[in-house]
Order: sequence, then structure tokens, then C-alpha cells
Amino acid sequence: MTDYAKGLEGVIAAETRMSYIDGQKGILEYVGIPIGELASKGTFEETVFLLWNQRLPNRDELAEFARNMHAHTGLPAGMTNRLLALPMQAHPMHVMRTMISALSMHDEDPNNIELDAVRDKAMKILSRAPTIIAYFDRYRRGLPLIDPKPDLDFAHNFLYMLNGAEPTEAMARAFEICMITHADHGLNNSTFTARVIISTLSDIYSALTGAIGSLRGPLHGGANEGVMRMLWEIPTVDDVEPYILGKLERKEKVMGFGHRVYKAHDPRAAELKKLAGQLARDTGNEELYEKSTRIEQVMERAVGSRGIYANVDFYSATTYHCIGLKLDLFTPMFVLARLAGWSGHILEQLADNRLFRPKAAYVGPHDQPYTPIEQR
Ligand code: CMC
Repeated sequence: MTDYAKGLEGVIAAETRMSYIDGQKGILEYVGIPIGELASKGTFEETVFLLWNQRLPNRDELAEFARNMHAHTGLPAGMTNRLLALPMQAHPMHVMRTMISALSMHDEDPNNIELDAVRDKAMKILSRAPTIIAYFDRYRRGLPLIDPKPDLDFAHNFLYMLNGAEPTEAMARAFEICMITHADHGLNNSTFTARVIISTLSDIYSALTGAIGSLRGPLHGGANEGVMRMLWEIPTVDDVEPYILGKLERKEKVMGFGHRVYKAHDPRAAELKKLAGQLARDTGNEELYEKSTRIEQVMERAVGSRGIYANVDFYSATTYHCIGLKLDLFTPMFVLARLAGWSGHILEQLADNRLFRPKAAYVGPHDQPYTPIEQR
């Protein structure tokens, strides 16, 4: 039997030119550029161009790319009615999965997997995803829908459609940094899912729908909701230590900590920590931030030596809360950003495809008699 790695730990299953991770040193780069550089100096539009083209755009290229992204924010005819027929109490992740899948039925040529066609579809899906989530949130709150404004960038436009007013620069920039830091991350579970699906030469809608299903799990992108629930559950900063130590003693996972690849600090968490601290001060959420930093200290003391540190989901929870997003919108925000990475991986897979088809180690019995049903 060949080697078996439970959870495929350490197995290299694809090549990518998009993100590089050194989990021991806590390094993340997009096409060689450290994530801290991109988060502090780049835009989300620029980041998507970088991931899809493996280089930064010049001024004209960026203007054209951004114009294209902002031009497709409107939903195809029929999609809005479909959305307004969904149950209001549905979780927005189920809405995202359903509506991204439904976009395929409004595409005249959904099965086209020529690279240029897929790139074009990816752009339209990425542009429309914020509209889907903003429309749904306003519909369930009984508020009139706000149409996208094509002259706004990705971050401003989403917050405008959600809240009905243009965001402050600080809010829009904080949201944009969240988008940049969540855009791609090697062969994580949802990205692998997207690549597995497209490797059958299926279509981009199916691959992205599967990826959204993967992301919503609490061990993956769903952890940011768990972090926020934990922060609410802990009454005061003084209660943090017994709460966390109690969890560890009961062998419960503390959401927002640990990572399959990082055994050092997750560099995305460092970026988001800065952001969360600033936003918490600006929005009067200091106690929430204090609880977060105390949790981090207690966890570092208790399990830091085992390589379990805060991950990207930990401070993104405080950040999203301070931006004013409701709890069940946290994981959909991860979708908005990661659509960029998933689509880039789908393009990479299609450019050099081989069907994913691993094997399972059979561990059951052999040579069993067939017992007739009346004797069982
Ligand atoms: N809290 C407490 N203990 C932990 C944690 C945690 N967050 N993470 C790992 N451990 C312990 C775990 O209990 C186990 O201990 P033992 O060896 O005594 O049984 C050991 O560390 C190994 O854990 P594992 O779950 O087998 O390791 P993994 O490589 O499969 O873990 C993980 C990766 C992300 C699933 C895990 O760290 C976890 O469940 N974290 C909490 C959920 C979370 O924050 N997920 C977001 C991940 S980052 C963003 C993303 O991918 O979307």
C-alpha cells in the first residue's frame, strides 16, 4: 500500500503560481509579494488582477480591469425575483451557494471551459456576488434594495448596497483589507474542492458552488462566526482566562486558533489584529478587542508551544463586527474575497488539467459469504 496521509496532510496535490505559504516561518505571499505589503498598499481590484495574471497591472490595465469588474455588478433579469422568493430566515451561506449556482442558468454558455470564457465568467460572478448578499440582507430586513453603483470600487459599493449610504473611508479600507487578506491561501479545503470539481471538466459554477459548501464548515471559513459567538459568551475580560482554560481542559476547540499549515503566527492575523484594534477604538468596541487580545494571550501561554496561534478568522470577527456586519454575514464575506482565489485556481487547473482521482485504503473484511436475507 502507498503512504496514507489522513486529511491529506503534507500531500502536494497541485501546482500554483498564486500564493506561497511557509507555515513554519509564518510567511504568506501572493505571487511573491508579502501579504503585509499588499494589505497596507494594495487594492482588492489590484490583488485580483495579480492573482489571475501573476503580475501587478500598470495604471491603464488596472483601470480597465476595475471598470470591467464594476460594470457587471447588476444581476441578470430574473435573478432578483429568484432571490426575493427565498425564505427570509435562510442562512446567507445557503443563499450564496444557491444563487452562485443559479447564475449558471442565466449564462447562455455555462459549460464553456475555454480559458478566456472562464476568466470572463469569473469576473462576472465576482462582480455579482456582493449584490446577491447585499440584496438578500436588505430583503430579509424588509428594506428596499439598493442598486449597485458602477462608479464605486468593490469595497465601497458593497457597503453602500448593504447600508444604503456610502461608507466612511476608514470602514471601506478596513473591509478592503479583509478582502485582500482572504483572497487566496494555497490548497485549502474549499480551493481543493473547486479544483477537484473542475478537474472533471465540469463548469465554473459547479466548482464555485462546491467550494462555498466547503467553506461554510466550522473548521474552515465558518470559524469566524464561532469566534464572535465565543466573544459574546464571555461576560467580561476577567472571565477570559477561566473560560479558555476550561475549554482546553474539556478538549474543546477554541475557534479562530490553529491551522493545518501554520505552526507559527498566521501573518494575516497580524494584519487583521491592527485593523481590529483601530476599528474597535473608532466604534466604541474596545471591550470586544480587549477580550480578543486576552484570549490570544491565554492561548499563547497554554498552547503556543504546540504551534497553535490565532488564525485569519480570529481578528476578522472583531473587524466585521466593528464594520457593522451581522454575524451570519461573516462567512459570506470570506466567500466574496475567496471567489478571487477559487477562480484563479480553476483557471490554473484548466490550463494544465489532470483528473483528481486518489485511492482509498480498503480496511474492511474480505471473502465474506453472502447470507440470504431470511438468515440475517
Ligand atoms: N483549540 C484547541 N485545540 C486545538 C485547536 C484549537 N483551535 N486547533 C488544534 N488543536 C489541537 C487539537 O485538539 C489536537 O490536539 P490533540 O493532538 O491533543 O488531539 C491538535 O491540536 C491537532 O489538531 P487537529 O484538529 O488534528 O489539527 P489540524 O491540522 O487538522 O487542524 C484546524 C487545523 C484548523 C482544523 C484546527 O486547528 C481547528 O479546528 N481550529 C479551530 C477552527 C478554526 O479556527 N478554523 C479556521 C482555520 S483558518 C481559516 C480557514 O481555513 O478557513
